[in-house]
Amino acid sequence: MFITLEGPDGSGKTQQIHLLADFLTEKGYKVFFSREPGGTEIGDQIRTILMDLKNTKMNPRTETLLFCASRAQIVEEVIKPKLKKGYIVILDRYADSTLAYQGYGHGNDLQTLRTLLDFATAGLKPDLTILLDLDPELGLNRRKKGGGEWNRMDAYRLELHKRVREGYREMASREPQRWRIISADQPIEVVQSELRNLILDYLE
Ligand code: TYD
Repeated sequence: MFITLEGPDGSGKTQQIHLLADFLTEKGYKVFFSREPGGTEIGDQIRTILMDLKNTKMNPRTETLLFCASRAQIVEEVIKPKLKKGYIVILDRYADSTLAYQGYGHGNDLQTLRTLLDFATAGLKPDLTILLDLDPELGLNRRKKGGGEWNRMDAYRLELHKRVREGYREMASREPQRWRIISADQPIEVVQSELRNLILDYLE
């Protein structure tokens, strides 16, 4: 089973995934989790380029291709083999992030991106995608107050982050059989408990 977590910056995905992985492991499931961009040696090098605040000249198409390059690597090197071995694979961001940020956010053509994503992922789709939904202003404030690194992507103007959120909501409403939405504007324990219930429901 392949689960992805999506959401605006500062929605707490990373922390929630750690808690969730511990919980599922205790329940006896074989769990593997990772994040994007990155998750492989090559992907981590690509991540450094993407997140570097000095790279202010990066063109949105360059950005898109770099995210896709990192993704192609993690799919073949890590995700497919882990799924084959029977792991539940949980990924902090996946192809929907590209549609949300580079598509809805930057305005790249969505259909072109879908074709590109199909190529990058060799058609591998998540079984379940959870959106941790949050007002981007809240998320970015959390970030600034010390919740994780402040990177080149965070530094995009608020308008872009608002379009990203709307994009996520639109994708979730178009494909309700794959997407679930949890409000991230709640205490960590509440979000975690909703997440656990939802995933146990799905697994059963
Ligand atoms: P990261 O620090 O991992 O942020 P978060 O904890 O919010 O996931 O940085 C990832 C950033 O890259 C985040 O701003 C979203 C962005 N991103 C894209 O724009 N496109 C993508 O395809 C992916 C995977 C991430």
